[in-house]
Order: sequence, then C-alpha cells, then structure tokens
Amino acid sequence: MTNPTNSRSQWGSSIGFLLAAIGSAVGLGNIWRFPYVAYENGGGAFLIPYVCALVTAGIPILMLEFALGHKKEASAPKAFFMIDSKWEWLGWWSVLFVMFGILAYYIVVIGWCFNYLIFSFTLEWGADPNTFFFDTFLNSSGNVWELRGLNLEIAASVVLVWFINWLITYRGIKKGIERAVKFMMPLLFFITAVIILWSLFLKGAADGIRLYVTPDFAKIMDLNVWVAAYGQIFFSLSLGFGIMIAYASYLPKTANIFKSSIIVACTNSAYEVFAGVGVFSILGYMALQQGVPIQQTVKSGIGLAFVAYPQAISMLPFGRLFGLLFFFLLMIAGITSSISIMEAFASAAMDKFGLSRKPIITTSSIIGFMISLVFTTHAGLYWLDIVDHFLNHYGLLTVGVIEAFIIGWLYRTEKLKSHIVSQLGLSGVGHKIFRYIVLQAWKYCIKFITPVALSIAIINSLMSEFSKPYSGYPISGILILGVGWLLVTHMLAFGFSGLPWRTPDKSRM
Ligand code: PHE
Repeated sequence: MTNPTNSRSQWGSSIGFLLAAIGSAVGLGNIWRFPYVAYENGGGAFLIPYVCALVTAGIPILMLEFALGHKKEASAPKAFFMIDSKWEWLGWWSVLFVMFGILAYYIVVIGWCFNYLIFSFTLEWGADPNTFFFDTFLNSSGNVWELRGLNLEIAASVVLVWFINWLITYRGIKKGIERAVKFMMPLLFFITAVIILWSLFLKGAADGIRLYVTPDFAKIMDLNVWVAAYGQIFFSLSLGFGIMIAYASYLPKTANIFKSSIIVACTNSAYEVFAGVGVFSILGYMALQQGVPIQQTVKSGIGLAFVAYPQAISMLPFGRLFGLLFFFLLMIAGITSSISIMEAFASAAMDKFGLSRKPIITTSSIIGFMISLVFTTHAGLYWLDIVDHFLNHYGLLTVGVIEAFIIGWLYRTEKLKSHIVSQLGLSGVGHKIFRYIVLQAWKYCIKFITPVALSIAIINSLMSEFSKPYSGYPISGILILGVGWLLVTHMLAFGFSGLPWRTPDKSRM
C-alpha cells in the first residue's frame, strides 16, 4: 500500500509494469479505431505517416512521461509541481478530464460490450443489427437535450464494470493492478490470436485484407492524413492522460526507461495493425456473403463493434461462440485501460492529500459512476460522441504540446536525458553512440517536432470546428458538453493546484 511518508508502492516485477502499460495502451481504440482510421487514410500507405508519428511523437512523449514519473517518483500533478509549481494545474487537468470525462463514457462502452456478450447467446440483434442497436438497445432520443431517463439494462452493466474497476484498483498496485494484468493480458493476446486466425480462414478474408492494405499513396500528401496519424498514436498510447507518468512512478530505481518505452510502443502498434487484419477479414467475409462491395460494410468505431460485427456473427458458423469471444475481448481490452485511468487520478490524489488509496478509489468511483449515468440516458450516445470528440482532439493534444514545451524548454531535456542514460546499462562505445544519436534525436523531437506536429493537429481540428458544428449537433450541445467539459475540468484543476500539499515527504518535492 502507498505510504506517503516513505516508500511508494512498487510493481512486483518489470513484466508486471510492462503488461500494465501495454494494457493501458491496448484498448478499444486499437480494435475499432485503428483499422478504420488506417483504411480511410490511405490503407497500407497510412503506415508511412503512422510510423513517422510513432517515432517523432509517440515514442518521445512516452519516454518523456516514463522518465518524468520515474525520476520524480510522482504522479502527474506532483511531477509538474516539482519542475515548477506554476505547472501543477496541467497534471491535474489531464487526470481530471480523463477520470471524469473519458473514463466516464469509456466505462459505458465497456458496459455495452457486456450487454452484447449476453446478447450473443441468443443473437438478440436479429436480422437488422443497425435498428436493434440504435432504436431498441440504446433507444436514442431525437436530440442532445432529450435525456428521457436511464436505460436500465445499460446502467446495470455500468454498475458491474465500475465495480470490477473499483475491485482491482482498491487493492493497490501489486495485489490489484499487477495481478489483474498478469491474468488479463495473456488472455487478451490469446483470444485476439484465436479471433484473427478464425477470421483469416473465412471465405472472402483475402479481399478484405487487400482493401485494408492497398496503399493509396496520393493520400500522403493530404495534411488531414498526417493529423489523423498523430491523433491515433496519441490516443492509442494513452499519452497526455497522466497514466504513464503514474505507472512509471511505481518502478524501482533501476528500471530501464528506454527499453520499456520501445517495448510498450511497438507492442501497441503491432497489436493494432494485426487487429486490422482480423477486422477486414471479417468484413471481406460479410461482403461476400451479402454479395455487396466490401466498401459498403466498412464502419468506424461504434458502428463496427455493435453493427457490423453482430451482423457477421449472425452469419458465421459457430457465430455465438465468436460473439462471446469478441465482446469478452473488448471488455478485457477496455478494463485494462480503464483501471489505468483510475490509477492516474488516485495516485495524484494520494500524492496531494496524503490520504490512503481506499477512500480515494471509493469516492472517485462513486463520482465517476454518477457521471457515467448521464451516458446511459437516451441521449447518452450524443453526449458520448461530443465529449469524446472534444476531449480527444483538444484535451489530450494540448496536454502533449505543453508537456513537450515544459520539458523541452523550461526544464531542459538534458536532465531527463541523463536520467534515461543512467539506467541503460550500456558502457563504452555503445553508450556514447546511444547518447549522441538516439537521445539527441529524442531531444529534438521533444523540443521541435512533437510540439509543432501536435499544434498543427489542434489548429487543423479547430478550423474544421469553425467551418461547421461537429457532426451537425446544436451549438448549445457543443458549447456546454464539449467546450464546457474542458473548461470546468480546467477550473477544477486550478482549484486543486491552489490547495496545500499534505504529503509529509518534503524531501521529494
Ligand atoms: N489507449 C487506449 C485505447 O486505445 C486509450 C485509453 C486509455 C482510453 C485509457 C481509456 C482509458 O483505447
């Protein structure tokens, strides 16, 4: 358990830490977001901007967050406070909008997966999964402000998912999160392998994969494609969430930050690229069965998991089993991500208020659960869509830009660089080459490339925001839910950073 006076909790093993960080990164985004983003943005050719984004922003920021949390042995707010008290708010802002924004709806989506897991037994969605999902299951109202009470079936799953999250994080790092990921991550990889293999052997799979990977090189010239690549890398690696800072703060002194960043980033990317192979195989199969062009079956995010997949499941031999595995996989991928957000917030609150883990986890779970309930109303889908869009496009990326600015220009990258080097275990020529080439490149990414690339992404999104309201929602919805969520958490962050530190251990501050 965390004892604020001296030792911070620690991971029991480095594999425990790696699995937890990979668990956070590999989430619903890898399974339902990446394949679609890749397909939309040039298929195989998307790998070029994607790998650039990975190398120039993904790995550098991941390494920054790991090194910062590890060096300062602190959660995001405390780590930034230790650099300069002026920046404590940034840490609070990320953990607050993620905990009481992104997590609140993310858990609702994991809840839907549980509902669909149950539906798989009877293929409940029938012949028209689209109408079933929107009209029967969500029973969506006609507009953002028409809440019409809770959808009880969904609310019940949300209680269950919050309870699982509470149960895992309540028990702490070693006994809770580490134990959970050591069990869940191998299971996740195993089920993914089964599903991909199963999909690969379906008739039509090759056509689907061909559509997924066929490069459209003309797209590389399009700025939007590059912006999509940076956005995808950022969300997928859970950067700007305060998570990786918190997770690295529980590492023993001797941990190898460089190696860990590479392992986590590469595993996450490999996972999503392969997930795409599975997804497009299924789409290829479905198109063949229905005699329609594959392009017509391709859907993004929610539509892919809750409309296209159910449709395929109904057609497959042993489809019920496939459905069970698929929705169970989504639940595991989701939960190993959601617990990481709870930990990012809890570690911040523990650091600041010197309280023990249990009351913090319980209180934040109750508040988070109550916020989740608004996403289970009949307007929940609209709320989810707006909040998701604004927090991901502006919240996360803004945190990333400011993080890079603080470390690159105020704190000086040299200090973190020496910290990374000290753990490498390299000596002689290897050490020198490494120090000069790789870490020098890292420094330039943090100082120049990452902030510039992320700023372009933010400006690009802002411009489209002004040209037409996001997805045609009423301005009131966009201002109150999207902008409002960002502003309120921002004000709360300032409020939190104004409060006095109650951590007795001043030596680390
Ligand atoms: N990396 C996660 C994903 O791809 C993003 C995330 C992390 C979302 C933690 C919620 C919680 O789904």
